[in-house]
Amino acid sequence: ELQVVLLSGGSGTRLWPLSREAYPKQFLPLAGEATMLQDTWLRVRELSAAPPVVVANEEHRFLAAEQLRQVGVEGAAIVLEPAGRNTAPAIAAAALQATAGGADPLLLVLPSDHVVRDAAAFRSAVREAIPAAQGGALVTFGIVAATPETGFGYIQAAPGAGVRAVLRFVEKPDAATARGYVDSGDYYWNSGMFLFRASRYLEELGRFNPDIVEAVRRASEGASRDGDFVRLEREAFAASPADSIDYAVMERTDRAMVLAVEIGWNDVGSWSALWQVSEQDADGNAHHGDVIAVDTRNSYAYARRLVALVGVDDLVVVETDDAVLVARKDRVQQVKEVVARLKSDQ
Ligand code: GDD
Ligand code: MG
Repeated sequence: ELQVVLLSGGSGTRLWPLSREAYPKQFLPLAGEATMLQDTWLRVRELSAAPPVVVANEEHRFLAAEQLRQVGVEGAAIVLEPAGRNTAPAIAAAALQATAGGADPLLLVLPSDHVVRDAAAFRSAVREAIPAAQGGALVTFGIVAATPETGFGYIQAAPGAGVRAVLRFVEKPDAATARGYVDSGDYYWNSGMFLFRASRYLEELGRFNPDIVEAVRRASEGASRDGDFVRLEREAFAASPADSIDYAVMERTDRAMVLAVEIGWNDVGSWSALWQVSEQDADGNAHHGDVIAVDTRNSYAYARRLVALVGVDDLVVVETDDAVLVARKDRVQQVKEVVARLKSDQ
């Protein structure tokens, strides 16, 4: 039996001004008709008979519940974090929720803000990975590392094919190290999607970070149920150290395995990434909303009102009700500096 876990706690500030703390990117229809959270569920729902376990911030509970309802989900467990402690505790809370009734399902853990163009290929990959996960492995899905991104985890796989042992897992290496990995042709990016037995994850997390398991266990035991919402006990959860699964478990475990996949994956971490995955016209422009482009190339525009671009290249223009972003496409990583400044001005 397979239990889908949707991680929905990120804040996605690099997609400002569209993605906000109060309305982060997983709740937006950035890459299609449905929101990214909805797409994530629709992509895998045929793999599982059970509704998903969703882990989200308390603040987003109505967004999450309403969006799940819109795609026909009934009886999900929406586990609410009083404050984000990163993915290692979030997944622990999901694992404890999934094992509460005595079951020990395989957890398919998915970030709710990625694009996967070839959903069928991804489902096949999950099916292929199931036996290894049943055998006790922590399986991740590897993407051929094409550029030396420093925002990803890097995985060196044992030689061979199919689900392979992980020789090394390095989370967010510096630029020089990442370049070395890409040049070697020997590394995959960690997609951030995982498959493992719930009890195995808790066991591995407990080996390396017993304090996280301890805190989340107390927060789960003290949780209150309110319809689909499972409210973790505030103080116990706040006492958990904050860490990601990548640092807390994947870099350290000797039970990691990887399956290389070609699924049209993109983590949509920036406006240029969104431009990349969007449908482009003959001039390389991608639009959302009412946009007129004259003599313009390789640009992305998001418009609530009418936006016109004339004679510009490689530009990102995002227009919302209360803010406008104009940026060079190769500088969009610096959008986070805008968000930092807004925060410090508050
Ligand atoms: N519920 C919950 N609570 N979800 C969270 C929290 C939290 O505290 N923090 C992050 N998430 C969710 C995010 O919404 C996202 O869907 C997912 O967990 C991963 O978190 P990110 O913050 O986006 O991680 P990252 O992008 O820096 O790195 C991870 O993803 C990369 C691929 O996109 C790592 O797994 C890398 O190794 C990987 O390459
Ligand atoms: Mg991410």
